[in-house]
Amino acid sequence: MAGKTPETLRSRRWYGEGPGSTEHTSHALQAGYAREEFQGRPVIGIVNTWSDMNPCHAHLRDRAEAVKRGVWQAGGFPVELPAMSLGEGYVKPSAMLYRNFLAMETEELLRCHPIDGAILLGGCDKTTPGLLMGAISMDIPAIYCPAGFTMGATFRGERFGSGTGPFRYAPDLIAGRLPMEDWEAIEQKIWSSPGTCNVMGTASTMTALAEVLGMSLTGASSVPAMDSRGHQLGAAAGRRIVQMVWDDLKPSDIISDASVFNAAKACVALGGSTNAAIHLIALARRAGTSFTLDDFNDIGRQVPVLANVQPSGEYIMHEFADAGGLPALLTQMASKLDLDCATVTGATLGENIRGAKVGDANIVRPLDNPVATEALAVLKGNLAPNGCVIKPSAATAELLQHRGPAVVFNDADDLAARIHDPDLDVDANSVLVLRNVGPLGGPGMAENGMIPIPRKLAEQGIRDVVRISDARMSGTSFGTCALHISPESWIGGPLALVEDGDEIELDVAGRAITLCVEDAVLEQRRQAWQAPEPHYKRGWGMLFSDNVNQAHEGCDFDMLASREPTPEPPVHGKI
Ligand code: FES
Repeated sequence: MAGKTPETLRSRRWYGEGPGSTEHTSHALQAGYAREEFQGRPVIGIVNTWSDMNPCHAHLRDRAEAVKRGVWQAGGFPVELPAMSLGEGYVKPSAMLYRNFLAMETEELLRCHPIDGAILLGGCDKTTPGLLMGAISMDIPAIYCPAGFTMGATFRGERFGSGTGPFRYAPDLIAGRLPMEDWEAIEQKIWSSPGTCNVMGTASTMTALAEVLGMSLTGASSVPAMDSRGHQLGAAAGRRIVQMVWDDLKPSDIISDASVFNAAKACVALGGSTNAAIHLIALARRAGTSFTLDDFNDIGRQVPVLANVQPSGEYIMHEFADAGGLPALLTQMASKLDLDCATVTGATLGENIRGAKVGDANIVRPLDNPVATEALAVLKGNLAPNGCVIKPSAATAELLQHRGPAVVFNDADDLAARIHDPDLDVDANSVLVLRNVGPLGGPGMAENGMIPIPRKLAEQGIRDVVRISDARMSGTSFGTCALHISPESWIGGPLALVEDGDEIELDVAGRAITLCVEDAVLEQRRQAWQAPEPHYKRGWGMLFSDNVNQAHEGCDFDMLASREPTPEPPVHGKI
């Protein structure tokens, strides 16, 4: 690995010497910096997803200042680059529609500016994969710094995780057993401070996977948002990225087949979000590795759930962190990992976690005492030829082998209009089917997969039924939900052919999902099926629809996942 010198820095093309660099040099001077503050120094772009519309990232402006402190200390020149924030709760129709937008924005922000290395500030669900995908494609030195998770809370004396977990009280609200003032108390407590959801949802899963991939400082994903160690780690990342620039240590030197497999194994051991099955594949493909959804299934059989954290387990992220957090978990499963993988620290993964202590072996379990045996299963069959995923550890055990009649909702509007209809023909044996909520149909594959329990069932005390869709569900969700059916119904996948009353069989142990209808009947329905009109005729939505691939491929754009080199921009002075 050849290192960099002041003369070979990427930014040198902008901030060189002489009249050829006047336009760029004078703009730095205009911003109040003296020549010695930026010339010949690594320029560090801090890609910041702070926004007033993303309270999970409310503290990231302060975090950026901590990063800048570290960059200055190490002799670099920090600059902050705002990027699209993707607050999970606010962005409609789905933050997922914009993950690739953030990835493209990150890559191009880094490319078009005089940047030598990057610090990526994110955390709320799609921001982590979006930032990482862009940084991988740009392939300059980069460190991902997670926002950290929100404070813990209690409700009725019980531990209370954030995200969609509190929606477990929704059947009681729907059935009239929970007063509105109690529901408003829940609303107050779902997120108690800035920071990401404090359970093993998509945010905590993806920040952990970034660390296992080697793209974060050790332990960074196990620090609460409001803990001063977050700023300390930010400053440390600022110092470290400057050295990474001199060493020319890039994502392509760090992310490999082995590190992606490590990340997938950690995901399963964490009881991580089903969304990781999409994001990790997208990251792996960006990095040019071979990882597929089938690999995830194999790993799901090999690695049990070791993190006793909601929604698969009992505790919340603060308790997991206090019990040793991710480094401790990785020591518990060290025999399953390739510990020689490189990381941003300059040391291997094994060196990073050496000495990590398990503070509570009930929360960070050993391999011989798991929380559950399976966190993620990939099912295939005539209903999902390219696969779908289910999270057995967050499902009802008795429903993992189930056959029942379909109750079909054609899209999210149809679901909203009829799910609580007292005349809905549904019982505990039914299989709820929601379609046209995939990557193209959603559009943007919203988190509709945890289909609400119909009121008439909730009133009978039924809290779970089998639910099937081409949507995603929040990583904080729970229930017997088969998700990400590929190919999706919008493009004529078999889910489009299901009719009310069709028998559907779910067989998680056999990794099968079957629409129990004769092939000839399905073929007749296929012939009669008509493709819907596209949602978008212009703008980002059209670009997304024209390029997005299916869930089993990571929902990336093939043109962005391509490893074809993008030329550096020409930088010509005005003189
Ligand atoms: Fe932002 Fe969960 S809503 S991390």
